[in-house]
Amino acid sequence: MEIVIIGGHGKIAMHLHRILKEKGHTVKGLIRKEEQADDLRKAGAEPVIADIEKEEDISKYVGEADAVVFAAGAGPGSGKERKWSVDRDGAIKLIEAAKKNGIDRYVMISAMGLETPRGDEVFQVYQQAKAQADEALRNSGLNYVIVKPGRLTNDDGNGKVKLAEKLDRGEIPREDVAQVIAAVLEDDSIENVEFDLLSGENDIEKALLEFV
Ligand SMILES: NC(=O)c1ccc[n+]([C@@H]2O[C@H](COP(=O)([O-])OP(=O)(O)OC[C@H]3O[C@@H](n4cnc5c(N)ncnc54)[C@H](OP(=O)(O)O)[C@@H]3O)[C@@H](O)[C@H]2O)c1
Repeated sequence: MEIVIIGGHGKIAMHLHRILKEKGHTVKGLIRKEEQADDLRKAGAEPVIADIEKEEDISKYVGEADAVVFAAGAGPGSGKERKWSVDRDGAIKLIEAAKKNGIDRYVMISAMGLETPRGDEVFQVYQQAKAQADEALRNSGLNYVIVKPGRLTNDDGNGKVKLAEKLDRGEIPREDVAQVIAAVLEDDSIENVEFDLLSGENDIEKALLEFV
């Protein structure tokens, strides 16, 4: 499969490149900083330089693929404006690019608990931006999977997860989120679904099988 990952130097994305490459897939990562290109090559992905805030139409950078993954985010240090321009509008630009390029499958890295925004004003805007991006994807006509992890950690993954329509708060290593996304991409039967995702007791394949 050919997979394009937006936010290609993100921490989940960097795990995902390696995992997908090891499974024999071709991976392209969109990044906005030239100096990150070598990191992607080392992880097994082809880097493509494009700033999703500056470009209105990102279809030429996305190109052809079997699936796209939205792994970008303005990040914790950013203000309200970039929550809209990256977390919402970047994801919507990817929907438009996928449609234009005839790519049917879209995996969104979303977040748990968006329906009840909490925290300070900027965090609430982030949650609204993510919720609006998810809603745009649900209504896009694309075949979608919305993965909603809890708090992300940089711990090593152990391949054990819990996933369900709704879970109580918790956390999960970024590496395990990447493993779940890779498993989703490899299973065509997982379509038009969304789930909360935390560390748990089940192997990833088993957890996905029990959910869908
Ligand atoms: N933190 C949590 O606990 C949590 C929980 C649930 C869900 N999430 C979601 O999970 C997502 C992925 O997490 P992560 O930790 O892997 O993210 P991350 O390491 O913060 O990576 C986000 C990537 O997006 C890129 N990006 C930002 N603006 C861009 C632009 N204009 N054009 C192109 N790329 C741009 C960044 O690139 P630069 O290096 O150029 O800035 C960065 O590489 C988060 O963004 C968040 O929405 C987070």
